[in-house]
Amino acid sequence: MNKITIAIDGYSSTGKSTIAKQLAKRLGYVYVDTGAMYRAVTLYAMQKDLIHESDFNVEALIYQLDKINITFKYNIDLGFAEVYLNGVNVEKRIRTLDVSGFVSKVAAVSDVRQKLVAIQQQMGQDKGVVMDGRDIGTVVFPDAELKLFMTSSAEKRAQRRFKELKDRGDDVLYEDVLKNVQERDFLDSNRKDSPLVKAKDAIEIDNSNLSLEEQFEKVLRLVRMTL
Ligand code: C5P
Repeated sequence: MNKITIAIDGYSSTGKSTIAKQLAKRLGYVYVDTGAMYRAVTLYAMQKDLIHESDFNVEALIYQLDKINITFKYNIDLGFAEVYLNGVNVEKRIRTLDVSGFVSKVAAVSDVRQKLVAIQQQMGQDKGVVMDGRDIGTVVFPDAELKLFMTSSAEKRAQRRFKELKDRGDDVLYEDVLKNVQERDFLDSNRKDSPLVKAKDAIEIDNSNLSLEEQFEKVLRLVRMTL
């Protein structure tokens, strides 16, 4: 059967990665979490002290971009590929609220986007890929055969994210998670380079009132219609 490219974009914490992972597993496709790549660059900037509170040394980050190596390695137990920053598994570390609090500023830097988009395009060049992010259907793969755009109320999304962080044992407040979700949506939607917008040919899925199963069935139907 012909392999296709599936682009899943949308607001923060809409459950894009859950659906993308399930879909990749069902279809035998590769799943690429592009948010993890922006998060890994943010972690690098934090580790190198390029970020202090609200101060961000953009020039120094751009200067060091060549030193940042981001790779994925499949974890058979988890059933998806984990992200590595310069050879170190940072899958857990990049999900913390401190990284979330800065990632949208790092993701607004064009040089960072250029570097990561090139890697993403290479990862998906043979199709058979489910990629989630903010600009996959608009910039990374404008010719993707199937484009989905996920939405859900900010409160629903913050609840989901809050539960995830609490389940991992992170000490977070719901109000801070909600604020982060709203701030990221604003920054991601209003940046100059590759803002978060629904591609003209993307299918919008509002999952505020859909269970995971209902959502997956809906997406699977769309995939079958596209194949
Ligand atoms: O998907 P996730 O929420 O982990 O993404 C973290 C951040 O990375 C987003 O809020 C956004 O600023 C940035 N991002 C992006 N383009 C992508 C994927 C993520 O700008 N394709």
